[in-house]
Amino acid sequence: MALPQDFLMELKYRNDIESVLSPYIALKRRGSNLVGLCPFHNEKTPSFTVYPENGSYYCFGCGKGGDIITFTMQMENLDYIDAVRKLADKAGLRMPEDNRDDKELKLKNDIYAVNAEAGRFFHSVLMSPKGKAGLDYFLGRGLSLKTVKRFGLGFAPDDWHALENHLKSKGFTDYIISAADLTSKSEKKDKFGKNITYDRFRNRIMFPIINIHGKVIGFSGRAMPGNEKQGGKYINTSDTPVYKKSHNMFALNFAKAVCSKQAILVEGNMDVIALHQAGFEMAVAALGTSFTEEQARLLSRYTKEVVLTMDADSAGEKATDRALGILDNVGVSVRVLRLPDCKDPDEFIKKHGNARFQKLLDSAMSAIEYRLLTAARDIDLDAVDGKLKYLNKACEVLAALNDPIATDLYAGRLASKYGASKERLLNVIKNIVEQKCNGKVRVELREISGALNIQKNEVNPQKGKYRRAAAAEEAVISVLIRHPDMLDSVLNRLDPADFLTDFNRKLYQRVTEILGTGHGFDLVLLGEGFTSDEIGYITKMLTVGTANENAEKVLDDSIKVIISERKALDNPDVAELDDASWAEAMAALSKDKKKKPIG
Ligand code: CTP
Ligand code: MN
Repeated sequence: MALPQDFLMELKYRNDIESVLSPYIALKRRGSNLVGLCPFHNEKTPSFTVYPENGSYYCFGCGKGGDIITFTMQMENLDYIDAVRKLADKAGLRMPEDNRDDKELKLKNDIYAVNAEAGRFFHSVLMSPKGKAGLDYFLGRGLSLKTVKRFGLGFAPDDWHALENHLKSKGFTDYIISAADLTSKSEKKDKFGKNITYDRFRNRIMFPIINIHGKVIGFSGRAMPGNEKQGGKYINTSDTPVYKKSHNMFALNFAKAVCSKQAILVEGNMDVIALHQAGFEMAVAALGTSFTEEQARLLSRYTKEVVLTMDADSAGEKATDRALGILDNVGVSVRVLRLPDCKDPDEFIKKHGNARFQKLLDSAMSAIEYRLLTAARDIDLDAVDGKLKYLNKACEVLAALNDPIATDLYAGRLASKYGASKERLLNVIKNIVEQKCNGKVRVELREISGALNIQKNEVNPQKGKYRRAAAAEEAVISVLIRHPDMLDSVLNRLDPADFLTDFNRKLYQRVTEILGTGHGFDLVLLGEGFTSDEIGYITKMLTVGTANENAEKVLDDSIKVIISERKALDNPDVAELDDASWAEAMAALSKDKKKKPIG
């Protein structure tokens, strides 16, 4: 195991869970626990519960759960070791010297270093005669030299090994260069039988991607004009130990300082850069992915409001709908800016200048206005039944608002615009709301149990197939966690190989390993080998499972079930029998044995 148990326990005691969570969530005491609104999904009634007793949290709405480490990972978008480091710093604890940890940290630092060097290389090529075509392209698109420098833009030469050779001359190894995804491997081998590597980015203008700490974590390379069809218009760094594109945003390193009131989300790198140059330094873009929940959460740490300024095409509309939903969910307010007569912000700025863009920004639609507007999609508003259809849809939009004043205002507007009676509209809305309320309890219940089921199935997909065994396996683990003194007795009777479901087997192995060191069980000791869904699931076992007075009996029964299910599985003929017949068969078998000893 990577980090010593004593260190992890110390980390836990120095960071009590309330103090770790309370900067992010308003927690209220309920009995011996605390409750609050879940920061991981949008909810109006708190289902997020904190258990100070064992330092865990669990959301009954979305199934996220864990301890101070998982919370820090999820909230701050950090990987395991960085989350631990953050908590250690906070508590004034020194990170233990740890080989593997050192290795991982070293790999990351090497990748940062090689990325920085690659960025410098691309930039210096851009500024040299070899990069003239690239620089001309940037300048031709209206960027100033100052902007080119500020963003560290570059050019990857039309050469299979230029970057690779340069990096090697600086002492970087093949291993690091390919770990940073700067080269690809070809099928061809060199004379030593090693696959030949070659530069991933060739003949492209280069955008370094810089994280919020100012480190180059990857690149986006755009094909030169006319070459967009060859190898794709954009090539992006794939995920590496320092880069996950769905977790980062282009230009947030600059934007974060100025976007506390408002950020602008656009689609393209060039849009971002054009906006920054025009003075709108709060612009960011998703990195060649559709906007993700992680990106929304990242943004929500720096801004209260996001103005969606996607391209004016159907893909942009889809992207807007999607981002609207996701940002809503993390509690960031949204406005929508629609560009008249231009395909994207880059073109708009060039054509009309920044003053006009500022005007658009000031008058950007609220999310409600946008939803009312898009409710008219594909509806012929000139036709009478088209109008009716639209008014119904619009009422649904308003019903979802949960805001009587806004509802009144918009109902009035709709009424006068479409010659309907405001009272009627308000009535329709009221009916929808009431229907929803009735349905809501059901929906909420369904959602909650749905979330748990989905999670269950994802965490332990074999549970459906081996229901009886899986339940017994969980029972054993639950008992063991609560009664570490039973470890030996369990180990003597139950081998990991007896488990039928892989997840429970893995968990059993880890739990017995932890208990074997003489420590009690603690979530923080689980370490790194579990996904956040798995930890959520384990937390649930830990917190909502009952402390059982009949632990020994539960254990005995469960072990019996597991062993018999294992036998049944290994011996499919017998497995055809139901429980009762199984008992009979077993009884008969033992009688038979007594009568006729084998051999
Ligand atoms: N993108 C990508 N892969 C592609 C196309 C697009 O990763 N094959 C990402 C890039 O980050 C790009 C963004 O999606 O910046 C928006 O795409 P697009 O509008 O096509 O690119 P622009 O940056 O606007 O490029 P340009 O204005 O030069 O056409
Ligand atoms: Mn564009």
